[in-house]
Amino acid sequence: MFALQYSEFGPPGVLSVGEAVEPHAGPGEVRIAVRATGVTPVDAKVRSGLPEGRPPLAWPHIPGVDASGVVDEVGEGVTGVAVGDAVFGLVDIARLGGAAAEFAVLKAWAAKPDALSWEEAGGAATSVETATRTLDRLGVAAGTTLLVEGAAGGVGTVAVQLAVARGATVIGTASDRNHGFLAGLGAVPTTYGPGLVERVAALAPGGVDAVLDIAGSGSVPDLVAIAGTPDHVVTISDFAAARHGVALSHTGPGGDAPAYEGLAVAAALATEGRFTVPLHAVLPLAAGAEAHELSASGHARGKIVLTVP
Ligand SMILES: NC(=O)c1ccc[n+]([C@@H]2O[C@H](COP(=O)([O-])OP(=O)(O)OC[C@H]3O[C@@H](n4cnc5c(N)ncnc54)[C@H](OP(=O)(O)O)[C@@H]3O)[C@@H](O)[C@H]2O)c1
Repeated sequence: MFALQYSEFGPPGVLSVGEAVEPHAGPGEVRIAVRATGVTPVDAKVRSGLPEGRPPLAWPHIPGVDASGVVDEVGEGVTGVAVGDAVFGLVDIARLGGAAAEFAVLKAWAAKPDALSWEEAGGAATSVETATRTLDRLGVAAGTTLLVEGAAGGVGTVAVQLAVARGATVIGTASDRNHGFLAGLGAVPTTYGPGLVERVAALAPGGVDAVLDIAGSGSVPDLVAIAGTPDHVVTISDFAAARHGVALSHTGPGGDAPAYEGLAVAAALATEGRFTVPLHAVLPLAAGAEAHELSASGHARGKIVLTVP
């Protein structure tokens, strides 16, 4: 099969499309012919060689965790899905490599709703799982006032919509140019950076019940001040947050259980017209290096997705 891959850590230029060994579905897995695959900031960090607490990579390495596509192998013990079904989900990248390839093996998936394009569905899964896990951990429900720090990116746009769908009031931070975009997703937008505590107090005079830090920009002390207690703040990207008593949610060793059930919830919301996956850029697989550069810029509005021919 063909795949986007690299054989040494380095800049985006180490990526190229070439031949790779086909993976096959094991027990509890499905294989898909990939139609689209999302690019996440973690893909670019791993490619750069930055430590992510991961075991060594097998070379060549295929990046990409999220994908949409058509099922072409159903593993032992799998029910409720058949060859030919359209699905979206996540790969087990450590075991079988990534999704930026002709074929990928999914460890978790849901039926792709017609309401989401291949590209939207292909970029959705990690964001949906992460948002579901952290909103659950924060107890976000009808009546919650939630602050999302870093609301305009891949995870933020999804977290905002899933929280709004739960009946929460959501304040989301982004740069000024993204405020109209955030309002369109159902959030009350505000700017990140100095003065955040005062701006949020003005927007939520009754207080903020929960804070989700997606940006990991070092604003955790302000976020604790806004929530009133570190127990009501969860970060997904600030590895120094523990010194302020704030939990880092992840699904690695010692982390939280993954919330894969969120995939079907998001699919149902999409069918109801209450969930979409904003796309910052859609590029062909061969433009993987450009996609990684865009992701590393840190200012994607929604998801960056590669299409697979
Ligand atoms: N622990 C986990 O389970 C987990 C899971 C998934 C992702 N992550 C991590 O979560 C982080 C975010 O992922 P992502 O996919 O959402 O990234 P992303 O799509 O690249 O995020 C880009 C967004 O970040 C915003 N942003 C940049 N600087 C900001 C700041 N100082 N304050 C607030 N917003 C800011 C940008 O908004 P503007 O352009 O308006 O500035 C842009 O919309 C990454 O570090 C990723 O590795 C962790």
